[in-house]
This record gives sequence, structure tokens and C-alpha cells, in this order.
Amino acid sequence: MRILSGVQPSGRLHIGNWFGAIRQFVKLQNDGHDCFYFLANYHALTSSQDKAFLAESTMHLATGMISLGIDPEKSTLFVQSDVPQVAELTWFLNCVCPMGLLERATSFKDKVQRGIQANVGLFDYPVLQAADILIYDSNVVPVGADQKQHLEITRDLAGKLNLAWGDNLLVVPEPYIVESTAVVPGIDGQKMSKSYDNTIEIFATDKATTKRCRQIVTDSTPLEDPKDPATCNVFSLIKLFASPEELAEIEAAYRAGGYGYGHAKNRLGELINAEFAQARERYEQLRSRPDDVKDMLAEGGRKARKVADATMARIREASGILTSY
Ligand code: ADP
Ligand code: TRP
Repeated sequence: MRILSGVQPSGRLHIGNWFGAIRQFVKLQNDGHDCFYFLANYHALTSSQDKAFLAESTMHLATGMISLGIDPEKSTLFVQSDVPQVAELTWFLNCVCPMGLLERATSFKDKVQRGIQANVGLFDYPVLQAADILIYDSNVVPVGADQKQHLEITRDLAGKLNLAWGDNLLVVPEPYIVESTAVVPGIDGQKMSKSYDNTIEIFATDKATTKRCRQIVTDSTPLEDPKDPATCNVFSLIKLFASPEELAEIEAAYRAGGYGYGHAKNRLGELINAEFAQARERYEQLRSRPDDVKDMLAEGGRKARKVADATMARIREASGILTSY
């Protein structure tokens, strides 16, 4: 079974990325599946054309993913643009994609609503994502809930291309979404996202993490009063990290009163720092060896290109495109 997923190098990794996506990537890899994971740098170009930011985010993401447990010996880890064939497949998919399908895409509409200047790349984002998935004959795509519609579009486009040029040319993939962690809330209670400036970063110092936890938005219930854990942003995050026993204790403390949001925030900071202590250590070590990271990505790129070339040969042939070189 081929597993595939991508993350955009568009800022710093946060705990939403871990619970929604990367934790599943590691688990699927360690369960022995054939995993392809990549850094979606073509996608990142749709939202920023800042050269230094892209370069720095790409190295951060590669170093971070390896530190979190993606093992380039087990998984094919690569940079999207090392397989330019995906841009070619995007074109074929564009030509079987009705405009309406993209006009209905909520992530595009959301971004435009938030005042982001729409370029054609942003509009076409789901088609490039479909090409990423389909070019590697992927069966299963682990993602957070926000990617559900992109997966539906991918399945739709695979069907349309198969209908145009031949059954079974492309494998129709399934999304894999772990519902309990599908949407991790940010410090303001909205979905945690780099674009909302509400993230808790994975690779920050202990001190910065605790400080960030103190900024989580809570209501103004006084310390001594009982509190409802079900509506508290801090508690939602504690749930992701605490053992069942500790969670029950904290829940009881909320309901009893005399336990303030400050206590909960400090405990959350400690839990996060403990959870990522090892990964942070690995990150610090690997950060000083960027050439090793680049070598690992280059090797992944070679493997990925082989698979992509075979798919493209199939599609060129089936569609009547003349290849004369
Ligand atoms: P961001 O929204 O911060 O830009 P990305 O789009 O790079 O994050 O997401 C990379 C992966 O992490 C995707 O699979 C996405 O679904 C998942 N993810 C991002 N934010 C969250 C979140 N708050 N909760 C659950 N999963 C998330
Ligand atoms: N759109 C995804 C995100 O924002 C990133 C992505 C690009 C992706 N191509 C993909 C995810 C292919 C899964 C499969 O998180």
C-alpha cells in the first residue's frame, strides 16, 4: 500500500501539524508501509514569493520532520520540486477539470475572504495537489480535516482523467483522517494555522513555549470558581498531551474550583516541553548538518522521480501526446 502526504514549507511546524498529520506519517512508516512524504514548495509559492523565507522554511521543515521520526531510510522523503513531472501532470488534470470544481473549493474562498491576493496558482492549488497524489499511485493520504475537500477533488479528477483516456490509468486514493485530532485549536480557539498567527510551535525553547501557552485565550471566571473544561481552549490542548489519569484529575479540578487557568496553562507548557524534548534535541543536532539533510532529500527525489516518470509515460501514451525526443 502506497501512503503519501505533503506539508508546505511556509513557516514553522506547530502542534496542529503533529497531531493532524505528522504523527500519522510516523506511525504508518513504522507499521512498514511504503511511504512517500514531501515538502510542498510549489504550493508554498502560491502564498509567498519571499526567497529567503522559502529557503529557510524548507530546511526547517525537512530537519523538523526527520527529528519528529520520519526516517529517510524507511520513507521516501523529498522536495516536491525535485519531481517537476508533477507540474506536467497538473496540466493534464487542468484540461479535464471543470472551472466550477475549483470555484467551489472552500480553502480558496477562505483565503480570498481573508484578503489574500488571489493568483492563478492559488486557484489551481487543488489540481497541483491532485497531481502530487496521483503521480505516485498513492492509495492512502493521511491529512488533517482541512484537507478533506482537496482529497475529494483529487478523487474526482482521477475519475475524470480515467474517463477521458483509459480506465485504471490513475489510482483513486482514500483520505486518512484521525477524527479525534483532526482539528487542533490554536491559542485563540480557531483552527491552529500558520496563517492565523495562533500556533504553538514544536521547535521553540521551553521558555517560549510556556510563554505562548500563557497567551491562550480564556474567559474571565475567577480562580476560585468552578470552570467548564468542555469550553476551555487550554483544556482542549491538555487533552492531547496528558495521560488519562492526569486528565481526569485536571477535569475534576476545573469543576471543583480553586484551580485557575494560569495553573492549567503552566501545566500545558510542561506537558508540551516533555513531549517534544527528544525531538528538539535531535533538531538541534541535525540543524548543524544541513548538507546531510540535503543529501537525504536528494536520494528521496531520485526514488520519487522514477515512479513519476513511469506514470507520465503512461499518460502521455494514453492521451495521444507525441513524444519525439
Ligand atoms: P497550516 O494550516 O498551519 O498552514 P499546513 O497547511 O502546512 O498547516 O498543514 C500541514 C498538515 O497539517 C496538513 O495535513 C493539515 O491538515 C495538518 N494540520 C494543519 N493544521 C492543523 C490543525 N490545526 N489541526 C489538525 N491538523 C492540522
Ligand atoms: N495542501 C496541503 C496542506 O496545506 C499540502 C499538500 C500539498 C498535500 N500536496 C499534498 C497534502 C498532497 C497531501 C497530499 O497541508
